[in-house]
Amino acid sequence: MRIAIVTGSNGLIGSQSVAFLSERGYKVIGIDNDMRSYFFGKDASTKETEESLKWDFPNFRPRQIDIRNYKHLEEIFSLYRERIEIVIHTAAQPSHDWAAKEPLTDFEVNALGTLNLLELSRQHCSNATFIFTSTNKVYGDTPNRLPGIIEEEKRYQLYDERGNKAAIDESMSIDNSLHSVFGASKVAADIMVQEYGKYFGMNTACFRGGCLTGPQHKGAELHGFLSYLIKCIVKRKPYTIFGYKGKQVRDNIHSLDLVNMFWHFHSDPKQGAVYNVGGGIENSISILEAIDIVNDICREMIPEWKDWKDYSIAEIPRSGDHIYYVTDLSKFKKDFPEWTGITISLKSLISEMIKKEIHNS
Ligand SMILES: NC(=O)c1ccc[n+]([C@@H]2O[C@H](COP(=O)([O-])OP(=O)(O)OC[C@H]3O[C@@H](n4cnc5c(N)ncnc54)[C@H](O)[C@@H]3O)[C@@H](O)[C@H]2O)c1
Repeated sequence: MRIAIVTGSNGLIGSQSVAFLSERGYKVIGIDNDMRSYFFGKDASTKETEESLKWDFPNFRPRQIDIRNYKHLEEIFSLYRERIEIVIHTAAQPSHDWAAKEPLTDFEVNALGTLNLLELSRQHCSNATFIFTSTNKVYGDTPNRLPGIIEEEKRYQLYDERGNKAAIDESMSIDNSLHSVFGASKVAADIMVQEYGKYFGMNTACFRGGCLTGPQHKGAELHGFLSYLIKCIVKRKPYTIFGYKGKQVRDNIHSLDLVNMFWHFHSDPKQGAVYNVGGGIENSISILEAIDIVNDICREMIPEWKDWKDYSIAEIPRSGDHIYYVTDLSKFKKDFPEWTGITISLKSLISEMIKKEIHNS
């Protein structure tokens, strides 16, 4: 049986990858030590996802291993060796604010953990496809200095010289900007993933995501804006917006659309590739716009719904936070012409997330 290794297998992108690959006949070895509950508290634990994946996919084999532990990881890689066809590495410490609390832990998980997996792949399955979920935070706060960002009524919007709505491609420098401790540990990992492709000739890719989300997202105040906002609205809890008057814009991609992109890469892998990934201009939204849309959808779903407005705006933004980040997907489209683009619209994505939240509450 073909083997896939998925790290962070209980998390948002990891669990979607487990389902996707299991449905395509892989035996999937999951690696997750539920460290998310250490980062964000027991409400953010991903442990129960492991149980449902085991139930749904009999060929899923979860292992509670810490990616910082080379020896424990080696037991898995040395067992399956060349049968490992694909490694999807999603395990991470994902928050800026948390990274500042424990920079050593952040770096060990994000940078050292990635190097452990790259080196074990090189030793045991050097023909495998290695996919790394990087982040747009590798660009630091450089996007904030783009000249075409205009303030509009409910959002900021980037325009190009011809006055068209614009997005950010891979040509942006990752140098000379404020990254945050988290952004810097991801840069270290991102460069290593590129290097194992370019120097050792392995099939590696960095997928630099912005807002990756979906109904499985366990949003916390420090991470996962749309998921956490929906949770607050559905449960009618207060929400704090940090800076930029709530007009900061993000594009959102459903975890399934992202994993489908991984699959396209696996069908024709490159060495040390880098792709910006997100929902693109169509799936972009500001926080103020998101509040409106969630209220609109809740009104359609729940006849007695009363609009939620329990938010406050703190003046100071999170350090290095983007004013406007929307992904230009052209490079991926060019490399994979058979990829048909984003399939899940923002409205469907938000509706799915609201339904899940209502179901859980
Ligand atoms: N979700 C987003 O908006 C977003 C945006 C940009 C980049 N990313 C990146 O995508 C990846 C996946 O994100 P996600 O939202 O699925 O994260 P997630 O937190 O939902 O899942 C990550 C999983 O990794 C596990 N994990 C953490 N540290 C570990 C360790 N040391 N050993 C083993 N397992 C460990 C956690 O328990 C968790 O289940 C991460 O690398 C993240 O940095 C996410």
